[in-house]
Amino acid sequence: MKICVYPGSFDPITNGHLDIINRASQHFDKVVVAVLVNSSKTPAFSLEERVDLIKTALNGKDNVEIESFSGLLIDFMHEKEANTIIKGLRAVSDFEYELQMALLNKNIDNDIETFFMMTNINYSFLSSSSVKELAKNGAKIDGLVPDEIKGTIVAKLMKK
Ligand code: PNS
Repeated sequence: MKICVYPGSFDPITNGHLDIINRASQHFDKVVVAVLVNSSKTPAFSLEERVDLIKTALNGKDNVEIESFSGLLIDFMHEKEANTIIKGLRAVSDFEYELQMALLNKNIDNDIETFFMMTNINYSFLSSSSVKELAKNGAKIDGLVPDEIKGTIVAKLMKK
């Protein structure tokens, strides 16, 4: 069985992430969406909230599983018996960090490959940070995140 892991902070999940999940799910038997801790970021949504938002956004898609993990991605890969990491790239600016991560992970376990997928051009400008910034300041986030989770995101961020 071909299993890939799509790791990220997903704080919150956007339509850009969803597009990558849907496309990856056409090439693998199973996609595990892994909500992980990025030690360089302070999340707005708790791990549990982020998992719930993804579950609602995916609406029970067949070959996609959602998990959270607070250790190293490589340890999670072993736990899931997966050997492919999926990462989305929007622009050259993403590349440097992602290259470092891919090489670091490969240095820990040479059998694990990172596959990069180019973003859908329609979402190349989109990030979780920009969604949060817009929602916090009362701007519309229509078309940037799935309709099913829009209200929850706005309600959480507008409170602050
Ligand atoms: O969406 P992000 O914030 O770019 O995702 C980054 C993430 C969470 C995938 C990355 O920080 C990660 O892999 N975290 C888990 C801990 C880990 O394995 N770190 C790499 C070695 S220092």
